[in-house]
Amino acid sequence: MADPKKLFIKTYGCQMNVYDSERMAEAMGGAGYETTDSPDDADMILLNTCHIREKAAEKVYSELGRFKGLKAEKPDLKIGVAGCVAQAEGEEIMRRQPLVDLVVGPQAYHRLPEMEEKTRQGAKALDTDFPEEDKFEKLKGRSKAKRAPAAFLTVQEGCDKFCAFCVVPYTRGAEVSRPAERVLSEARELVDRGVREITLLGQNVNAYHGAGENGGTWSLADLIWKLNEIDGLERIRFTTSHPNDMQDDLIAAHGECAKLMPYLHLPVQSGSDKILKRMNRSHTAESYLRLIERIRAARPDLLLSGDFIVGFPEETEEDFQATMDLIREVKYGQAYSFKYSTRPGTPAAERPLVDDAEASDRLQRLQALLSEQQRDVQNGMVGREVSVLLEREGREAGQMVGKSEYLHSVHLQANGHQIGDIVRVKITQSMANSLTGALI
Ligand code: 5AD
Ligand code: SF4
Repeated sequence: MADPKKLFIKTYGCQMNVYDSERMAEAMGGAGYETTDSPDDADMILLNTCHIREKAAEKVYSELGRFKGLKAEKPDLKIGVAGCVAQAEGEEIMRRQPLVDLVVGPQAYHRLPEMEEKTRQGAKALDTDFPEEDKFEKLKGRSKAKRAPAAFLTVQEGCDKFCAFCVVPYTRGAEVSRPAERVLSEARELVDRGVREITLLGQNVNAYHGAGENGGTWSLADLIWKLNEIDGLERIRFTTSHPNDMQDDLIAAHGECAKLMPYLHLPVQSGSDKILKRMNRSHTAESYLRLIERIRAARPDLLLSGDFIVGFPEETEEDFQATMDLIREVKYGQAYSFKYSTRPGTPAAERPLVDDAEASDRLQRLQALLSEQQRDVQNGMVGREVSVLLEREGREAGQMVGKSEYLHSVHLQANGHQIGDIVRVKITQSMANSLTGALI
């Protein structure tokens, strides 16, 4: 048998891209490739890209430029661009950077082996279709190799919400849910390969409405309850959600479903009703706060996470203060915040920008508040007992690192326990970005 060829994949952006990169690696495994951690010994380099903000998209071109020398040394090296920049800019990428051999959109990557074959014959390959067939089914079951204990599983893709700032409805297309049985069989396969925690992924995951048994439609809560029955699967998470799709059954599941972890990422973006309206969010600050109250009533220890944009067109200091007020009221345990970035083709791109220095200053103030809250929540864990799923060895002898129910990283002396074990731990110390604990 010929030596396997080497594939180097670099992943940018969200967790869905992480999942997609794994699937692409498996697809290329069928075409005689194995993955490598170094671009230098690769026969094929694939950048799985993100288009969400301008900086993310620009990174792709600077990264591609860096492969010039490598390609000159190794003319057989194939370079591909996948993901959302591929979808959004397609042919433009090949024009701007002639060393690119292959461009594949997020809906077409099951066709990657054929495309690679085409580039081996000296042609360029581009596919940014939204085909009818289920790419995940085409890619299923290719590998039986053991997996890390925590895995992602895409259940839904695309978005119909059209927030005024966001490219996702254009790059990932309309909302599509995978049929429940396919999700369940993939989950069982993951568990057979050693997975104990599954994070269900979707750009709008709580809008999940997949075909269920007997012609019915399943909600995300229905799916979670069924996953809850899988022996060996111990933890379920999901991300990312929209406030308007937080249905009663999903809220209730947070209180009743034993394997559903007490962590929820629920982006609000802004606390100003004027800005929320212009963002086309279809909720108000007040309705978001009342929703949080209901979710916390179901699961009082829930750790909340959010996304925020500052400097959205026409945001005033008063609007910004409304966001700060909302943050003070919610108290987030985790958060992601961004300065508004104009995305061509989105409705907000037409609106007047906030002064850049002002936007940067707001971002700094917002991040200071969020960091303080995260620290408080983390410090509040000291003295508490948590469960930790051990994910890797630590730096010190005998030390292991894992995640608590609340997604905090926890370091501990693991006394003979193994990766994949779930252990009870008492938290002893709060560090900058993690916790330290001791086995109970
Ligand atoms: N500018 C800044 N942040 C953005 N996000 C999405 N689009 C933009 C944009 N144009 C942020 C939102 C979203 C997260 C994934 O990225 O907060 O929830
Ligand atoms: Fe980036 Fe959004 Fe695409 Fe994920 S879906 S890779 S965050 S643009």
